[in-house]
Amino acid sequence: MSARGPTVASAPAIRTHGLRKEYGRTVAVAGVDLEVEPGQVVGLLGPNGAGKTTLIKMLLGLVRPTAGEAFVLGRPVSDWRVRGRIGFLPEHFRFQDWLTGREFLEAHGRLYGLPAQERRERAQELLEMLGLARHAERPLREFSKGMLQRVGLAQALLCRPELVFLDEPTSGLDPLGRLLVRDVLRQLRAGGTTVFLNSHLLSEVELTCDWVAFMRRGQLVRAGPLAQLLSGAVEVQVRAQPREPETQIDWGEFGDAWPQGDGGWRLRLASEEQVPDVVEKLVAQGVRVYAVEPRRLSLEELFLQVMEGEEAG
Ligand SMILES: Nc1ncnc2c1ncn2[C@@H]1O[C@H](COP(=O)(O)OP(=O)(O)O)[C@@H](O)[C@H]1O
Ligand SMILES: [Mg+2]
Repeated sequence: MSARGPTVASAPAIRTHGLRKEYGRTVAVAGVDLEVEPGQVVGLLGPNGAGKTTLIKMLLGLVRPTAGEAFVLGRPVSDWRVRGRIGFLPEHFRFQDWLTGREFLEAHGRLYGLPAQERRERAQELLEMLGLARHAERPLREFSKGMLQRVGLAQALLCRPELVFLDEPTSGLDPLGRLLVRDVLRQLRAGGTTVFLNSHLLSEVELTCDWVAFMRRGQLVRAGPLAQLLSGAVEVQVRAQPREPETQIDWGEFGDAWPQGDGGWRLRLASEEQVPDVVEKLVAQGVRVYAVEPRRLSLEELFLQVMEGEEAG
């Protein structure tokens, strides 16, 4: 037996067009076009107030868009039948804290319409998967923040969703808890589940996501496969000396280089392909080049670069 509904093979897991939400004069989401292939683990990154939670809530049909359209698993988000195939961990999850971990999961399994036998088995399976089995009979009010976060994640996975939305899934977790969530995400990916998560923990996203989108002031300012975004962000350490010490190096189209204390320079390039061009340019000026070392940026550095660029632009 399969808990999964029919899927349109070619349908993207998520598709939006001009999706927009205004709260009075606040534009929370300013027209987002997004397409996510099934089976991807997507990280949506952005500062507080960027519109991440609002975007997720529109994709869940919990917030009505001001304009635009959104489809999940090939269906309009307003189609209630699709909701049983979607899991959700809200940002500020409210728990029925008098229930034990097990009771809580079984109660939510009932909300999803799982038959009694199946919800008992599924609850047990998830308690084990999230390292909560030995706390299963304790009431949630005795749970730590990290344990609540994990039981919330278990709740999001009850219906064996094809698509899961996780709003800040690792915010309350210690390093061990984060490791566990990373492992769960890996299992979900292996099972073909599409995961869409909001996070401000960039190192976490770098470790777990296939596809990343940066959001700022309601807009997606950059999006793409993680590997591709990172391969396009290179910093080069240059050790070079003008032939005449008092002359300036002309970095030309490569923008500004930051002088380093040790007589070197740091230069940001759009891609590694530009490295030979930089060398050529320096040599053509008669600059003596001692070393050119490209280094890939981390996701965090790329994020800061993109956000600063948006600020300036
Ligand atoms: N229910 C609401 N009523 C009014 N303004 C809201 C509401 N929800 C969000 N906002 C505003 O929309 C913007 C985006 O918020 P949010 O989606 O929560 O961002 P993020 O999750 O990226 O921190 C913020 O300016 C926030 O104050
Ligand atoms: Mg949020």
